[in-house]
Amino acid sequence: MKNKTILSMVLAATMLIAIMFGCGSDNQDILNPQLMDPQGTNDAGVVDQNTEMPGFESDAVIGVTLPWLGTQNWVEAKEMFADQLSKAGYKPFIEAADQTVTLQQQQIESMIEAGAKVIVVGPVDSAQLTDVLDKAKAAGIYIIGYDRLLEKTAGVDGVVQYGSVETGKLQASALVQGLQEKKGESPYNIELFGGGHADPNSPNFFNGAMSVLQPLIDDGTLVVTSEETDFIQCATADWNNAKAQARMEKLLSTYYTDKEIDGVLCPNDGIARACITACESAGQDIPIVSGLDAENDSVQWIWEGRQYSTIAKPTDKLVEETIDVINSLRDGKGLPETDVTADNGVKDVPIFELTPLIVTKENEKEIFANDPTRLELLKD
Ligand code: BGC
Repeated sequence: MKNKTILSMVLAATMLIAIMFGCGSDNQDILNPQLMDPQGTNDAGVVDQNTEMPGFESDAVIGVTLPWLGTQNWVEAKEMFADQLSKAGYKPFIEAADQTVTLQQQQIESMIEAGAKVIVVGPVDSAQLTDVLDKAKAAGIYIIGYDRLLEKTAGVDGVVQYGSVETGKLQASALVQGLQEKKGESPYNIELFGGGHADPNSPNFFNGAMSVLQPLIDDGTLVVTSEETDFIQCATADWNNAKAQARMEKLLSTYYTDKEIDGVLCPNDGIARACITACESAGQDIPIVSGLDAENDSVQWIWEGRQYSTIAKPTDKLVEETIDVINSLRDGKGLPETDVTADNGVKDVPIFELTPLIVTKENEKEIFANDPTRLELLKD
């Protein structure tokens, strides 16, 4: 007890001397106002844009950890971050976490050890990074969420993403438009799919879509034959296409042996193609199916009339926006201005939001006019 008291007194005196003489890299934490208020929030829990955010050197290490490389957008992000961060003069340290939370935690630890000044995180499970992100924040590292919100952490400085509720609304609007265009008079038989449970985008996509679909379900225009309309019932674990295909096959063999399925709400292109394949194998006419990501295969399927729509959320724009945020932090200018915030359960996080776009055969050539890879796929 006595020894502990002496030890605390010595520690307190050391801290006081450090503060009085204001110095030494070891004591930067004590002197850095941002680290004394790592949340950067005021009393009301609102983000305080005036909190000091010191800049960093122009050749700093920038960490990027992506959730997996299972869909085209993440593969593009990996390549584009490597390219654009190097061109901007930074040292990129880029990893993908294979849908594994512990692997992503280790990757963030390695980025802290490597002296990263910013860590960009596309989380596998955004609620499971609290401790490691707190550690990064305590080391003075800026944390930017990429494409997905970082939940339950005060450590996150901002998130760069396409509007996720808006994405869901557009998916549902395209579905309804396709049904009206191609499937005659209502009612239309439809089924609903959601993304992976751990991804905060998934409920947002689904709820955005339901805000469009629910009134049409209520007035009888749309009939969800299985009656599975809850996000949890419709979600697809780990965004796994094979699991979505298995659910679609089961729905078809249970509810559609004697009726046609007209439409399927799908949260991304991989799941859309899995559902279309299941319908084709069951001998159904192809239903109207929505998607997301404008993956090459789906861009082609839309051109061929196999998939009705997707949503474009170009990766190059999202990576560019992220690097603009990093540059602003590097220059000591803090975060760029934004009016959009999202409550992550701990704080209101500034969101740097881009606008997604519906793609159908009708506007494909126009949308991809400046995207030679995708344009090349639009040939008869
Ligand atoms: C992304 C989608 C992607 C999905 C599965 C979501 O968070 O926004 O673009 O298809 O994850 O990887």
